[in-house]
Amino acid sequence: MARIDTPTRVETLKEATRVAENITRLTPYRPGKPVAEVERELGITGIIKLASNENSLGPSPKAVAAIHNYASKMHVYPDASSFELRNSLSAHLNVASDTIVLGNGSDDIIHLLGVTFLEPGDEVIQGYPSFVRYESAAILNNAPCHLVPLTSDWVHDLDAMAERLNSHTRMVFITNPNNPTGTIVSQEALERFIAKVPERALIIIDEAYYEYAAPSPDYSDALRYVREGENVVVLRTFSKIYGLAGLRVGYGVMRSDIADSLHQTREPFNLNLMAQLSAVAALADQEHVTKTVEMNEAGKADFYRAFEEMGLDYTPTYGNFVWFDTRKNSAAVFQALLREGVITRTGDVFGAPTYLRVTVGTQSENTKFLNALRKTLSSS
Ligand SMILES: Cc1ncc(COP(=O)(O)O)c(C=O)c1O
Repeated sequence: MARIDTPTRVETLKEATRVAENITRLTPYRPGKPVAEVERELGITGIIKLASNENSLGPSPKAVAAIHNYASKMHVYPDASSFELRNSLSAHLNVASDTIVLGNGSDDIIHLLGVTFLEPGDEVIQGYPSFVRYESAAILNNAPCHLVPLTSDWVHDLDAMAERLNSHTRMVFITNPNNPTGTIVSQEALERFIAKVPERALIIIDEAYYEYAAPSPDYSDALRYVREGENVVVLRTFSKIYGLAGLRVGYGVMRSDIADSLHQTREPFNLNLMAQLSAVAALADQEHVTKTVEMNEAGKADFYRAFEEMGLDYTPTYGNFVWFDTRKNSAAVFQALLREGVITRTGDVFGAPTYLRVTVGTQSENTKFLNALRKTLSSS
C-alpha cells in the first residue's frame, strides 16, 4: 500500500537533507572542456585543447613504461607513505623526505591545508584573479577569503595583500607563476611580505608552473623559506610539465611538523599505485622536462609575435599559457574558436570578460590556434 506522506514527515525529510550553509556558497569547479565533449556537441573531430595548461608533448615515455610494467600489480594497495616517490623528490629538491606531503593532485593538498588548519573565525587572503581552489577551501571551512586584486600589470599586489593581514589571518596564498596571468613576484617582494605575516598564519606559495619559470634568473627560490623553518608551504605538481594530469600527483613541501598535521588528515591511500610509479619515472626523465621547456619557449615567442601583429595586448608569461586581451567579448571569441576546433579558457570566469587564456602547445597546435584566432577576430 502506498504511504501518504504527512506534511510533518515531508518537513523532516527536507530537514535531514538540508545542505550546510557554507556548502551552498561553493561554486562547482569549471574545468577546461574535454575534447570528447566538444566533439560530441559540435559534431566535428580533430579538436585541440589549449585550455588546462597540460603538456602537449604528453608524459615522459618512461612514465608510460612504468605503468605498463606494473599494470598487473593493480590488485595491490599502494604504499600509503609513497616512500619511493618521497625519497626521489627529497633527492631532487634537496629537502628532507619528511617535509614532503603527496596528494591526489596539488588540489588535494590545498583541500588538506584547509581542513587541517582553518577554523571558524580564521581568514584567508589570496590574489585575484588567481587559481579558484583556494577560495573553495576557505568556504568549505567557514573562513572568509579576501580576494585582493592584482596590480594593473596582473602581478600579485603583495603590499595590498599585506594591508589585509590581521590577527585572524590564518592562510595566505601566493600563486607564482600566477594562473591565469603567468606573472611572478620578485624575491624581494616575497621577502618583504613574509616578514609582515603574523606567526599564526601559513604562507602557501603555489608553484604549479615552477619548472617553466625556474630557468628565469628573476624567478624566486621559495623552498629556501621552508629550509629556513618559516611557516611556508610550497606546492608543486606533476600535472603540468610532467604531463601526469590524468593520474593526479601533486605535493607540498613544508616544515615536518606542518607535514605531520597534514598526514593526520589525509586519506591513507590518496596517491594511487600507478601515480606513484609513474611520477618516480617522470622525475627521473629530466630530458623530457628540458624538451618541454624548449617547446614552450618557442611557442611563447610565436604567440607574442602573432599577438603583436594582431595588435593585441598580452602579458609575458612565466608559465605554459598566455593571458591576452581580445578586445571583444571573450565568451563569444571562445565559442567561435570552439567552432574552429580550439578549446581555450575565457577570462570572464576570472572577472576579465575580454581576456582569454591559451595554453602553449606543440607548434602545429599553436599554428591552428593562431589561424583560428585571426579568422575569428577579423570576422567579428
Ligand atoms: C596554480 C595552480 N595550482 C594548482 C593546480 C592544481 O593542479 P593539480 O592538477 O596538481 O591538482 C593548478 C591546475 O590548474 C593550478 O593552475
